[in-house]
Parts: sequence; C-alpha cells; structure tokens
Amino acid sequence: MITVERDVVTEGRTQLLDRIGRLRQERNAVILAHNYQRPEVQDIADFVGDSLGLSQQAAATDASVIVFCGVHFMAETAAILSPRKTVLLPDLEAGCSLAATIDADQLRAWRAQHPGAVVVSYVNTTAEVKALSDYCCTSSNAEAVIRSIPADREILFCPDMFLGAHLERVTGRRLHVWMGECHVHAGIVPERLDAMRREHPDAELLIHPECGCTSSTMYRMSSGDIAGPATVVTSTEGMIRRAADSPASTFIVATEVGILHRMREQSPGKRFLAASEAAVCPYMKKITLEKVARSLELMAPRVTVDPAVAAQARGAIDRMLAIAPSGPSRISTAA
Ligand code: 13P
Ligand code: SF4
Repeated sequence: MITVERDVVTEGRTQLLDRIGRLRQERNAVILAHNYQRPEVQDIADFVGDSLGLSQQAAATDASVIVFCGVHFMAETAAILSPRKTVLLPDLEAGCSLAATIDADQLRAWRAQHPGAVVVSYVNTTAEVKALSDYCCTSSNAEAVIRSIPADREILFCPDMFLGAHLERVTGRRLHVWMGECHVHAGIVPERLDAMRREHPDAELLIHPECGCTSSTMYRMSSGDIAGPATVVTSTEGMIRRAADSPASTFIVATEVGILHRMREQSPGKRFLAASEAAVCPYMKKITLEKVARSLELMAPRVTVDPAVAAQARGAIDRMLAIAPSGPSRISTAA
C-alpha cells in the first residue's frame, strides 16, 4: 500500500517536471533560483545563486521570459534590468521582512535630514527605495561599494542594521545605519552560535552578514573569547564557495537552511550543520514546483516596475553591477 502511494507521488512529480520542461521551452524561459529556494526548485533552475549573481543573470539572459524563484524585490530588480522581458514571480506573496522595514517616504525624510549624504541601499529594498538611492549593493559587494565612496562623504546605509554594523567594522567608516532587520537572520542569536561552537569545536563558521550574531561573535573572536577554525562572513554564494574550498570538514552555517542543499551536493564528504534549524524564510518557501508550472502556463503573476521609477532605480543598480564583489571577511585567521 505504502509502495503504491509512493509510486503515485513519484509519477505526479515526473509529470510535473515534464510539464515544466515543455513549458519552459515553449515560452523560451530561463528559471533563476535563489540559494534559499526549496531543493526541488533549485534542481530545475538554469541558474542558482545569490542576489548579485541572479541580477547578473537577469541582465545577461537572452530568454524571453524570466521565471524568478526568489522574492519580490529580486524579481523587481530583474524587471528593471530587463524591461523588455516578461518577469514571472510564481507567488506574489513572496515578500521580504527586511525590504518591508523602509519605504520611499521614510527614505525621503531620512535623506532630508542629511543633505549631501550618499545613499547606499541593500538590494533587499523596493524599486521605489532604489530609485531614491545613489548606490545599490548586495552582501557580495557591499564592502567594495562603501570603499568606493570618497572618505569625506557622509553615507546613509539602509535597511539592514547588522550588515551596516559589519560594514562599519570592516571598512572603519562611520555610517548612518537604518535600524531594519531580517526576522530570519535576526533569529540566529549569539547564544545559539556559542552552543553550536562548544558542541562542534572543530567546525568552521560561515555567517551571513544579516545575522544578529555577527557583531558579538566578531567581538568575542577578536578579544580571544572564542578560538577555533576560520570564521567567514560572506554572501550566500560566498559561503558555498568557501565550503568547497576550505580544508575544514565540518561547517556551522548561519543563514537560511535552504543553502545546505547545494553545499551538501557539492561536497558530499563534508558535514554541514544549520546554526539554527528554525532559520527558514517563509517567503522563499512560497515558491513550489506546482506554482512554477502554473506561472509558465498562465504567464502570470508578472512583476513590472513603473518606467519612471525603473529609470531612476537603474542608475543605483548599474553602479552595484559595476563594482566587483569584495570577497569574504575572514574574522579569525585559522585555516
Ligand atoms: P544573498 O545576496 O547573500 O544571497 O542574500 C540575499 C538574502 O535575502 C539574504 O537573506
Ligand atoms: Fe528577506 Fe530575510 Fe527572507 Fe532574505 S531571508 S528574503 S532578507 S526575509
């Protein structure tokens, strides 16, 4: 009985994959997926990566349709970069708690308090916020973007306070930082990391800079309170690269758990432990294979950006794409 049920499920999945395969060809579609997507969605994608890599792919593709398996601000960025293409987001409820912490009116008011300041917005923002920004950045190149701004210029950085604090530390610049956070990363608390570290003293620590644990972990590393193998703060793609290149065999991964799929596939001999199993982004998980198939069938839901907003946001996004990634910030020098 159980075997029969399993066969039915497998057959359903096979039919679904066939449907997606047929539709993606008929529509001349490219499927882009973020590193936090469900494993089965990552497996059907033409490209899986971090926000910067996905933006680069969206800008470069010659497909007619981009199926964005990620969240709304990512699909908006793709629509700005490829205005003549159809951008599908299989579930419009795939939002972002961090992007929701600042809107255009709030940024306008903040800017008015600091006339002449340079505004650097993390890519996790709406198109309207990007349109009011001088630079956009991702976790891959945020450090390089800050370093490219003349030292005598005042900088407003939004919306992630943990990434902002990290940038102040690694660049030595004083920034005005918006007090936003991602609820998933803020939930990975220092106490949790410390407990994991005690349990797995030989594990290398890979930390996304949006994490609430970043500041105190770095402080205690530098003051000698925590010792051990390398601790690396980097983007999701940087973490995947580091996991492959590092001599370590066990890793504590402080970010959304979806990233473990690629790490485990890429390095089957290594052990990857989630810093917190509860670090699940409900927005990223809105995208399912069924919704991908339906969106390709209906050519909906589409994400579009008002052309005037897009034209203004494009400058900040182009500056982001022109500045190369900074590479990971190594906290401890081991390994
Ligand atoms: P990355 O650009 O590092 O993939 O991060 C995107 C994101 O939303 C992290 O929560
Ligand atoms: Fe937004 Fe956080 Fe989800 Fe990333 S993990 S998409 S920052 S809510």
